[in-house]
Amino acid sequence: MEFIVKSGTPEKQRTACVVVGVFESRRLSSIAEQLDKATRGYLSNILRRGDLEGSVGQSLLLHSVPGTLADRVLLVGCGRERELSDGHYRTIIAKTVSQLNELGATEAVCYLPELNIRGRDIYWKVRAAVESAQEALYRFDRFKSKKEPSKRALRKFILTVPSRRDLPTGETAAKEGLAIAAGINLARDLGNLPGNICTPSYLADQAKDLAKHHKQVKVDVLEQSEMEKLGMGALLSVAKGSRQPPKFIIIDYKGNPKSEAPIVLIGKGITFDAGGISLKPPANMDEMKFDMCGAAAVLGAMSATVQLGLPVNVVALVPSCENLPDGNANKPGDIVTSMSGQTIEILNTDAEGRLLLCDALTYAERYEPAAVIDVATLTGACVIALGRHASGLLSNHHALANEILNAGKVSGDRAWELPLWDDYQDQLNSNFADMANVGGKEAGTVTAACFLARFAKKFHWAHLDIAGTAWRSGDRKGSTGRPVQLLMQFLMDRADHHKKKP
Ligand code: BES
Ligand code: MN
Ligand code: ZN
Repeated sequence: MEFIVKSGTPEKQRTACVVVGVFESRRLSSIAEQLDKATRGYLSNILRRGDLEGSVGQSLLLHSVPGTLADRVLLVGCGRERELSDGHYRTIIAKTVSQLNELGATEAVCYLPELNIRGRDIYWKVRAAVESAQEALYRFDRFKSKKEPSKRALRKFILTVPSRRDLPTGETAAKEGLAIAAGINLARDLGNLPGNICTPSYLADQAKDLAKHHKQVKVDVLEQSEMEKLGMGALLSVAKGSRQPPKFIIIDYKGNPKSEAPIVLIGKGITFDAGGISLKPPANMDEMKFDMCGAAAVLGAMSATVQLGLPVNVVALVPSCENLPDGNANKPGDIVTSMSGQTIEILNTDAEGRLLLCDALTYAERYEPAAVIDVATLTGACVIALGRHASGLLSNHHALANEILNAGKVSGDRAWELPLWDDYQDQLNSNFADMANVGGKEAGTVTAACFLARFAKKFHWAHLDIAGTAWRSGDRKGSTGRPVQLLMQFLMDRADHHKKKP
C-alpha cells in the first residue's frame, strides 16, 4: 500500500473517504468539528441521534455528506479524549484500515494523526499509523491454493499533518515506518513458514539476499566444519540430532564509517524444536516451528536497518539448527564443551536454545561490541510469568536495560525486566560438569538467563525472552514479528545519539 503525507482541510478533500475521530460520549474531535461546520451540523446531528457513542472500535460510515467533496466520511470512535493512549491509537488505526479495506474505497484521507496523545509528536503518530496499518493488512496465504479475494483493496492511505511545516517530519516518519513494517513482515513471514521449508539453509539464503543490493552489508555463513574448528561444541551437539546441516549466519552492517564498536544482535534460530530425546508432548508441537522467531526478528531488524541506512554498526549472529530426537542426538547426562571452554551437562535436551546462544555469545567477543542483545523463544516459563504482552528482559548492565525498556515503551513493543541475581546461579550446579543446562522448575526464565550470563561476562549484554510475544496461538495463530519494533527503536535511538555527538 502507498502512504502519502498531506495537510489541508477535511471538507476540501476530493477523495473516496475522509476519516475523522469521535470521542466518547458523542464528542467530535477538533477536525471533525471543522468538518461539521462545513456540513452545517450534519455530523453533530447524526451523533445527537445516538448512532455512534465514540468508544474505541466503533465506527460509522456516511455517504455523500453535504458540504464535502469526499464520497464518504468515516467517523471512528476514539474513546475518552483524555484517556487516548499509544495502544488505543494503534488499535484505532488498525481497525480503520481493516474497515477501509473491506469498503469499495481504494483511497482514504485519514485525519487521525492530528489527535492529541500525551507525549507523542507528529513524527511518532505518523510512524505509528504506518506501522499499525501495515500490521493490520498483513496476510500469510502462500500455501492457500484459493487466496481470499480482496475486492477493491485500499491502495492509497493519506495521512494528514496539522500544517505544511510538518510535511518533512511526516514524510520521514512515513518512510521510516514503512521500512520498519517491511522488517516486521519479513520476520512474520519467516516465522509463519513451516519447518520443512524454513530450514537453517533457508535462513542462510535469506540473509544472503540482504547483502545482494547493499555494499555496506557482508554476509558470512559458517558451515559445520568451520564451527568444529571454532570449538562450538554446545551448538553442534544440538545439531547432530538432525539431518539438516546447521548454519551459523553472520551479517555485518557498517552504517557508521567511523570504526565504532558494533551492536551485536543474536537470534535463536531453531527451525523446529521437538525437544530432542527429552521429547515434547504432541499437543501444539506444530508451534515449535516458531522457535526461530528470534532469528526472524534479528533478520527483520537488519533488513530495516539496511533499508534505512542507519548510521550505526550492527552485527547479526544467527546460530541455526533443528532439535530432533535421533540415534545421534544428545542424551540426558551427556557432557559437551562449549566454545568458551566451559563444560555443560545436558540434563534436558529440550533446553537447547541456550546451547546455541552460549556459543554465539562467545563468538561475539571478537567484535569487542558496544552491546550485545540476544533474542530468543527461550522458556515456556516466560509465557507463564509475563503472558503475551511483554517480552522478558534480563541484563548485566542497568543503562542498557533501561535503554531497551524505553525503546519498548516508545515503540509499543514492550519488555519487562526480571532479576538476573547471582542468588539463582546455584540452581545450575552440576555434579559432573561446570554447569547443568537446566535449573529446575523454579524461575525458569531467570535460570536460563543466568546460564547465558556465564558466557556474556566480557560485554554489556541483554537477553530478550520472546516465548510469549513472538507468536499468537489459537484461531489467530501466527507470528507477530515482535520484537522488531523494539530493536529498531533501540537502534534508531543509538543512531540519533551518534548524530548529536559529533
Ligand atoms: N523453545 C522452547 C521454549 C518454549 C516452549 C517457547 C513453549 C514457547 C512455548 C525451549 O527450547 C524449551 O523447550 N525450553 C524448555 C526449558 C526447560 C527444559 C528448562 C521449557 O521452557 O520447557
Ligand atoms: Mn526446547
Ligand atoms: Zn527451543
